[in-house]
Amino acid sequence: MITFYKVVVFIHIFSAILGMGPGFILTTVIKSGNTMNELRHSYRIRHKLHIFVMVGGVLLLTSGLTMGILNSSLFHMGWYVSSLVLFLLALAIGPIVLSPRSKPVKALLESHKGEDIPEEYHRLAKILIRFEHLENLIFLIIITLMILKPF
Ligand code: HEM
Repeated sequence: MITFYKVVVFIHIFSAILGMGPGFILTTVIKSGNTMNELRHSYRIRHKLHIFVMVGGVLLLTSGLTMGILNSSLFHMGWYVSSLVLFLLALAIGPIVLSPRSKPVKALLESHKGEDIPEEYHRLAKILIRFEHLENLIFLIIITLMILKPF
């Protein structure tokens, strides 16, 4: 029988694939671009991909919490609580760490005249990408916890 719980698991797994999949290539997308115009185009694509990540992320959290409400024993399981904490941490990294580091990159893309990519861009993007890799690592840990449920 298809229970409400199973429907929520279904939504959860679909959101993981459609939301996290594009999330892992957000850094790859901006690595392509040899001119300022190509780079601006890469950032526009990235912006669209990020919408999938935001919708998927909200659905992941709400479906995950719904499963906890339906089966409260989950709140006593280490993998569940750790994933929840890590997810909230990843969520907080967005506005606290990533946003202030992506603002100067976007400002440079808007203000720079000419097709050559300035050295300043590479410097700023490197810092941003480093923190995005950390974000990706957190999501990889959560996915591992979800699949293995080790403790
Ligand atoms: C990066 C974020 C997340 C991803 C990619 C993700 C992915 C997945 C996947 C693929 C499964 C299926 C694994 C399996 O049962 O074999 C799963 C299960 C589950 N997830 Fe998540 N998840 C995420 C975040 C969360 C969060 C934040 C919560 C809690 C609030 C949560 C709660 C659950 C629960 C309770 C199950 C078990 C479902 C069952 O009863 O089989 N998930 N998750």
